Amino acid sequence: MPNLVKAIKEAAKSFVFKYTTLAAPSYRYNIEPIQLTCLINEIEKFKTVKGCIVEIGVARGLTTLFLAEHIKRQSLQNTTTLYAIDTFDSFTKADLDYEVRDRGKSLTELEAFGYNDYDVWAKNFANFSFVKPLKADCATVDYQALGPLKLAFLDVDLYLPTKNTLPKLFDALITGGAIVCDDVLNNNVYDGAFQAYTEFCREYSLTPEIIGNKCGIIRKP
Ligand SMILES: C[S@@+](CC[C@H](N)C(=O)[O-])C[C@H]1O[C@@H](n2cnc3c(N)ncnc32)[C@H](O)[C@@H]1O
Repeated sequence: MPNLVKAIKEAAKSFVFKYTTLAAPSYRYNIEPIQLTCLINEIEKFKTVKGCIVEIGVARGLTTLFLAEHIKRQSLQNTTTLYAIDTFDSFTKADLDYEVRDRGKSLTELEAFGYNDYDVWAKNFANFSFVKPLKADCATVDYQALGPLKLAFLDVDLYLPTKNTLPKLFDALITGGAIVCDDVLNNNVYDGAFQAYTEFCREYSLTPEIIGNKCGIIRKP
């Protein structure tokens, strides 16, 4: 009997794969493979140093899960806490107002991530005790208080939160640590991050370092 059940399951899988698109692989991440690789390499660089990583702007947690799996599989839980920071309630009104009023963007185009919910998100990561969700406007967080900051992945799309958070992260970062900033790409709906990243590099006399198509790196010398 078990053999018959197995044969039926295999036949069903074969049918689904050959005659539908349900089993076709899909790329689930919002960020590029080169960015994921970069994040893992940066985690590895300081894996023996006790401290934290922050992902700022986590949406439903696709990249968070990728990073958490790496930390778990490489047994880095004792040295590395992963803070997942988000409003868990989309963009702030002030940040959206700025995009519309001062950057000429359309509110309808910008609206996204309204589905999120802190309790559901936290429950989804309950098995990763080293992942600490933090509900906050990223521009108001005291990053120094989280402990030595080894790596930051900043992915909040808009100008104001990126502009106001970059200096705070830079101050909190350990020597040799990095900020990986997503959406550093001009002339698109979310080009606020590009403007903020470019201004930051200019103000701090840092040479912009872009990897892939839309990812800006800032390193603390
Ligand atoms: C592009 S998504 C993040 C995607 C995620 N990093 C990933 O790789 O799957 C942007 C997220 O930033 C969050 N966000 C936007 N403005 C924020 C702010 N001022 N403070 C905290 N989170 C913010 C949104 O709620 C949203 O979840």
